[in-house]
Amino acid sequence: MPLVRPDFSILSEEYAAAPHRWFAHLRERAPVHHEPALGSFFLSRHEDVRRVLTDHEAFTTDILEVRAEPVMRGRVLAQMTGAEHTAKRRIVVRSFTGDALREQARTVRAHAAELLAPLLPRGRFDLVGDFGRPLAVRVTLDVLGLDVRDAPPRIASWIAGVTEFVTGLVLGPGRRRHCLDCAERLEAYLAPVIAERRRRPGEDLVSRLCTAESGGIAMSDRDVTALVLNVLVAATEPADKTLALLFKHLIDHPAQLARVRRDPDRLLPAAIAETLRYTPPVQLIPRQAVREAVFAGTVLPAGSTVYCVVGAANRDPEVFADPDSFDIDRADLGTARSFTAAAQHLAFGAGLHQCVGAAFARAETETVAAMLLPLLDGVRFSPGSRYREAGLYTRGPVALPLDFTPLRAAS
Ligand code: HEM
Repeated sequence: MPLVRPDFSILSEEYAAAPHRWFAHLRERAPVHHEPALGSFFLSRHEDVRRVLTDHEAFTTDILEVRAEPVMRGRVLAQMTGAEHTAKRRIVVRSFTGDALREQARTVRAHAAELLAPLLPRGRFDLVGDFGRPLAVRVTLDVLGLDVRDAPPRIASWIAGVTEFVTGLVLGPGRRRHCLDCAERLEAYLAPVIAERRRRPGEDLVSRLCTAESGGIAMSDRDVTALVLNVLVAATEPADKTLALLFKHLIDHPAQLARVRRDPDRLLPAAIAETLRYTPPVQLIPRQAVREAVFAGTVLPAGSTVYCVVGAANRDPEVFADPDSFDIDRADLGTARSFTAAAQHLAFGAGLHQCVGAAFARAETETVAAMLLPLLDGVRFSPGSRYREAGLYTRGPVALPLDFTPLRAAS
């Protein structure tokens, strides 16, 4: 039975504890949910969310001027339109597809092996804190062309601060100051790197952004900083969440885990696609209505801020059969298309601003999970651990303590 409450709020503790328990309520009873404290509307039906994300005339990303720009130190890709967006997006895409992608799988494997070496003999680790999160930061720095060994020790917490600003629905002045401080530190770290890449460009993404000129898109230091921060946050934030959610769901479904272990080449991509549908790490996508719009008979005034509730749209029974079940065999998803513009699920968004890193996200998660599965013999939730997720905008396990058969250090 879906939960129903007339005074329901997205900002309530009940929603924060388990948003999926309220998705049916939102779709069926409050498809245009108004949140007075935020002065914003929340849309939850698959059809409505897709419409908002693909009707670029009627819904803009202008809201990012206040939600992202202050910590990104400039405009991010999602704020751009037209020729500028196409040209700059192409530069980023080139670094995350084709030959670059194959090279990056090696990078991912090397970082994962290094982080795993001291953990495997213990027979217990936190998949998020001990492994997934540090891995996501290292891999992203590396694929951007930033030297992992030379990066400041606190860089992960600075990235977290910038992310908190972008994803925080309610941010007090103290946290806001902290986030802006993190952004200033990241900017100061990047300044000499950008100067050096302008002098001696290489093949890396930072160099490509520094030297881009075609189509009149020569970029200032501020432009480059913003795009580097954009990719740093966009690639790091969902990565450990996707990996941890994948393992959570597979351990919860032992028969599916056993099949994925037996046939990882075929079934691991399906399990990743289903994880992204079932529990998208990016749960909300904001937009601004240019003019009055009508959804489910309710009028949204011009200028309204609209949040697309991706998690609810991904469980819409109009699109996915038995949507609240985790099922790697579901026929209505399609593994191959799940990482492309033709995806049925909306975990990567839709339309012009659909994620540029989808192919990379698949390769990264697949590479790491394929490494982990044979190493984590008998993997199970650590006895006594309590599963907890956090986040309204992006969401994932706070920690995922796992026990497994320890691997002798020598092997
Ligand atoms: C499972 C992992 C990931 C998920 C779930 C995810 C999700 C998303 C979503 C929902 C959007 C749409 C935002 C909007 O419409 O406003 C997006 C856009 C974007 N993502 Fe990802 N992302 C992932 C991984 C990555 C990676 C690895 C990168 C690294 C390049 C990346 C870079 C970006 C960028 C730059 C955009 C903006 C694209 C544009 O505006 O043209 N993402 N992502």
